[in-house]
Amino acid sequence: MPHCRALSHPFEPGSTMPSDKKSTVVIIDDEQIILELTSMVLGSRGYQVVAAEDAIIGLELIEKHRPEVVLLDYMMPRMNGLEALKRIRAEYPETYVIMFTGKGSEEIAVELMKAGASDYILKPFSNQNLVERIENVLRLRRIELHNLELIHERERLLREIEEWNLELERRVLEKSRELERAHAEILQAEKLAALGHLAAGMAHEIRNPLNSISLFTQVLRGAVGEDAEMVSYADRVLGEVERIDELLVKLLGVSREPQGEPVAIELKALIEKVLSGFEEQARQNGIDISLRLENEAVVRGNPDEVEQIFSNLFANAMQEMQDGGRLRVRLWHEEGWHRVMVADTGGGIPGEHLSQIFDPFFTTKERGTGFGLSVVLRNVKSLGGRIRVDSEPGQGAVFQIYLPDAGSGS
Ligand SMILES: Nc1ncnc2c1ncn2[C@@H]1O[C@H](COP(=O)(O)OP(=O)(O)O)[C@@H](O)[C@H]1O
Ligand SMILES: [Mg+2]
Repeated sequence: MPHCRALSHPFEPGSTMPSDKKSTVVIIDDEQIILELTSMVLGSRGYQVVAAEDAIIGLELIEKHRPEVVLLDYMMPRMNGLEALKRIRAEYPETYVIMFTGKGSEEIAVELMKAGASDYILKPFSNQNLVERIENVLRLRRIELHNLELIHERERLLREIEEWNLELERRVLEKSRELERAHAEILQAEKLAALGHLAAGMAHEIRNPLNSISLFTQVLRGAVGEDAEMVSYADRVLGEVERIDELLVKLLGVSREPQGEPVAIELKALIEKVLSGFEEQARQNGIDISLRLENEAVVRGNPDEVEQIFSNLFANAMQEMQDGGRLRVRLWHEEGWHRVMVADTGGGIPGEHLSQIFDPFFTTKERGTGFGLSVVLRNVKSLGGRIRVDSEPGQGAVFQIYLPDAGSGS
């Protein structure tokens, strides 16, 4: 264990001199007289002085007192000044070191400066010189540390700006995506409106001749008498006429302008009612229905339109699960919206179809019309809501609807 020899007044190694808040100086020198003299000189000028008679003790005192400046002798037993200097500079970058060297060792002085000493003092030195050197180094230290602080502050600010930039970019991207989405939805709505006009006109025009075809075919059917083959042909014609008529009914449904004043609609009851219409089909196809309606929810709109939303979504889900599966329907309230989720375990929607499924006429089904989801979208919009769909092929599809709350006084 290193230990220090007791020294007489005015200081003891390892003890500090009483002083004001002036800088702390650790002196490390194996010459007792140097320790005493420098301590006295610096102590009388208000420095807090700590003395050590070798570098190992000195390092412990530096760890304890964190001095601004260390006066360090070059030639010492146990650990030489150069090694001590390197350790101090590496471990305590805010502690500056002034070396003592003997006269005639300028080469060593150069080496010491390279190793991180801030200055060197040739022995023997005058008190005046000692104090001036220390004050110079303290000034240099203050400036350098302040510079370092400024550099760090600058780096911190640059990082902050960088973060702001990233955040800004993220927001711009988010907004542009929202805008794109809104734009796509407007396009959808326009397409549907155009289709509606055309469809309404066409449907009326087609229904009249269709009616005639149906009537005359029935007459023919009666006239062919017992000829089973002819009867079956007539029935096929009637069947196809029926199909066209169903299509026209759907077309008219799509193009119909909403009727009547909007009324308050209890979503929970409405969803239950629509779903009950699918129960038999679900039972037959082995589809498990899981219904979780968490709270009462009131929206304002046309009840038929709201029914269409759910019947179309449920119908699609059912069609996707011919060999069984699970239909999950959930209603809850979140951030001011009524949220409804309709999730199935069917085949899912391939990524390249996601942007098209709301288009009128887009269908992947042999006997599909492609109207269902376009009507869903239109009706959700007319309620002031939003819809989103998530799907991984093979993982089923999840439709989520956000509807504005009309329960509280509006
Ligand atoms: N739940 C679903 N799972 C997988 N695909 C779906 C689902 N719902 C809709 N689709 C896809 O979107 C297309 C358009 O649906 P829709 O507008 O209801 O018309 P249709 O049902 O007549 O095809 C469907 O043909 C199908 O490809
Ligand atoms: Mg459909």
